[in-house]
Amino acid sequence: MLNKIFGRFSKDLGIDLGTKNTLVYTPDKGIVINEPSVVAINTRTDEILAVGNNAKQMLGKTPSHIQAIKPMIDGVISDFEVTEKMLKYFIDKAHAESFTLIPRPRVIIGIPLDITEVEKKAVEDATRSAGARQVFLIEEPMAAAIGSRLPVGDPTATMIVDIGGGTSEIAVISLGGVVTYKTLRIAGNELDRNIVQYVRDEFNMVIGEQMAEEIKLKIGSAGPLKEGMEMEIRGRDLLNGLPRAITINDSQVREAIGRTVAIVIDHIKNTLETTPPELVADIYHKGIVLTGGGALLRGLDREMAQATKIPVRVADDPLTCVVRGAGILLNDPELLKKVLSPSTSSN
Ligand SMILES: Nc1ncnc2c1ncn2[C@@H]1O[C@H](COP(=O)(O)OP(=O)(O)OP(=O)(O)O)[C@@H](O)[C@H]1O
Ligand SMILES: [Mg+2]
Repeated sequence: MLNKIFGRFSKDLGIDLGTKNTLVYTPDKGIVINEPSVVAINTRTDEILAVGNNAKQMLGKTPSHIQAIKPMIDGVISDFEVTEKMLKYFIDKAHAESFTLIPRPRVIIGIPLDITEVEKKAVEDATRSAGARQVFLIEEPMAAAIGSRLPVGDPTATMIVDIGGGTSEIAVISLGGVVTYKTLRIAGNELDRNIVQYVRDEFNMVIGEQMAEEIKLKIGSAGPLKEGMEMEIRGRDLLNGLPRAITINDSQVREAIGRTVAIVIDHIKNTLETTPPELVADIYHKGIVLTGGGALLRGLDREMAQATKIPVRVADDPLTCVVRGAGILLNDPELLKKVLSPSTSSN
């Protein structure tokens, strides 16, 4: 009864709790939160100092009593308490944005395909203690497919590849369910680490992961570019410890990240090999759709298409597909029923 009363006033939310970014969607306003999954905490008092964009600015620059924590690792919760606080902050902020009086929303939230029951329960519990009245779990590739407007309920197979910060998920979807899939714990963050390692090995220079990400965004690519690109980067000399600047070009960055890109492409091929032939025929016809921030790596679609001999396209606004999919499901209870991932407990 109480729930019913609250339900009438509360605003429901779709959430993409990502390793790198957290997004929140409300039916009225669309995406109201899109911020990095980072929390800054005063370790002396346990007080939260900043969340999201403000906390990200503190990464790597905090004095010893302040810690900037990324509570998600490889798509799953690694620090429960901090995740719960971060979600609460974002949910409250989403409600403040849409002037809701009683913020006890139903929440549809994405989870990776291969998580354990314990990891799944952690997402449910954190979302509920952050203020949700009811929690619906949805597999991220399914949400990404719905957000990309793919006909997931049809008896035609589609392949979706979501490359985020911590996970790459490859899934074949047909008739509202995932038929075959593969979740890799390597994605955008791994490319950044590859670049850190390369610069260390080739130039004897130490750079941070944020600088590495900047390099990837500015001049990173999966295949040769029409016009070469280069950029000046700064770091610390490994031998004398002093600041130093060097110039790095696109082919060096390609060399740094090439192995990881090849692993992702190999897994796509493996997934195709274990997919029933009728469905593979559909995928050949319809192509592969890329989502997640990793989809934006220059030339990745072309490299994948060449390796698989299947057309590949990047979804519109790939960074927001999962949360937009969750948002579509808020307004489509019939489809939600079809694609819901079983909950670990009764809601
Ligand atoms: N233009 C770009 N080129 C290459 N990589 C990019 C680009 N834009 C964003 N990325 C990468 O995309 C990743 C973030 O993507 P996304 O927000 O989809 O991840 P996430 O959902 O937080 O993570 P996960 O799904 O693994 O939990 C980061 O590694 C980021 O560097
Ligand atoms: Mg994601």
